[in-house]
Amino acid sequence: MLIQTRNDGFIHPVSSEITLQAAYQDRRAMIKLMAAGAAGAALASWAGRQALAQAARPGKLAALPGAKSAVSGTMTMEKVTEYKDASTYNNFYEFGTDKADPAKNAHTLKTTPWTVEVSGLVKKPAKYQLEDLLKLSAQEERIYRLRCVEGWSMVIPWVGYSMSKLIEKVEPLGNAKYVEFITQADPKTMPFVGSRVLDWPYVEALRLDEAMHPLTLLSFGMYGEVLPNQNGAPVRLVVPWKYGFKSGKSIVAIRFTDKEPKTAWNKAAANEYGFYSNVNPEVDHPRWSQASERRIGEDGLFAKKRKTLMFNGYEAQVGQLYAGMDLKKNF
Ligand code: MTE
Repeated sequence: MLIQTRNDGFIHPVSSEITLQAAYQDRRAMIKLMAAGAAGAALASWAGRQALAQAARPGKLAALPGAKSAVSGTMTMEKVTEYKDASTYNNFYEFGTDKADPAKNAHTLKTTPWTVEVSGLVKKPAKYQLEDLLKLSAQEERIYRLRCVEGWSMVIPWVGYSMSKLIEKVEPLGNAKYVEFITQADPKTMPFVGSRVLDWPYVEALRLDEAMHPLTLLSFGMYGEVLPNQNGAPVRLVVPWKYGFKSGKSIVAIRFTDKEPKTAWNKAAANEYGFYSNVNPEVDHPRWSQASERRIGEDGLFAKKRKTLMFNGYEAQVGQLYAGMDLKKNF
């Protein structure tokens, strides 16, 4: 992959370049430029942009560009993790428990046709075909840190839109307090479903106000392309201020409830994985500290660990959701 280095230390091309890819792939845009009388310049610019476009996405899967997000906290200053790391070092227990297993095994996941059923305490329950879900709102690119409970993190340019767009569409009833995300559990295509590690399907949940927060992303892609299977194709959640396990992959159903749902990791070990699971360096996991993290791609014997930030660095955006709560008790 061609890596472009910028002055700000940002090595993956920024979203505006990925967006331009879409514009310049559009031949009509090209013709318009030429008609404006700047044919030579347009051609040079187009060729330049094509080169950038190639650097902008890995070119492994279908393009899914997103316009740069205006949502506060979709930061761009940190070095983006390389695609090869983000797509080969994964947790997706349906395909095995080793970090390399999902990339090796997830090719069996069947992502078409794909339906997401929205039900429970809503005025407008509905079954969405993936194609309709993709079009429900404009795709945005957002560069988020994702920190795993195991002590590693990545910085990934995700593509999707705020979960709130879908929630508004289905109109939750007044008594809806929680949103449950149920993921695919098909033993025919997911070799580890049926293993005793977890109680399948993998289920995660958020409080309704957390799910409504603009940072909560319903994601269909990363690095300007559709999600690779191992990263949760064709649709997953990304909740950047919570430990990675709250971000369920390959979602097939979304349910609105009035009671706190039982989630997969909480059922497996309630003393280790609380419902909230906000990134909190002051609350240790019972078996290890959460004060620091290893950034994937910065490995090596002498690589320094980074200090883990409260709410994974999104405190300004989400801190008020937990005002007055004891975050040691509600871990
Ligand atoms: N979703 C499902 N369905 N199954 C899983 O095992 N693992 C979670 C989360 N979503 C998981 C899941 C965990 S522990 C993490 S850290 C993130 O996915 C990892 O996402 P990534 O592999 O795309 O980085």
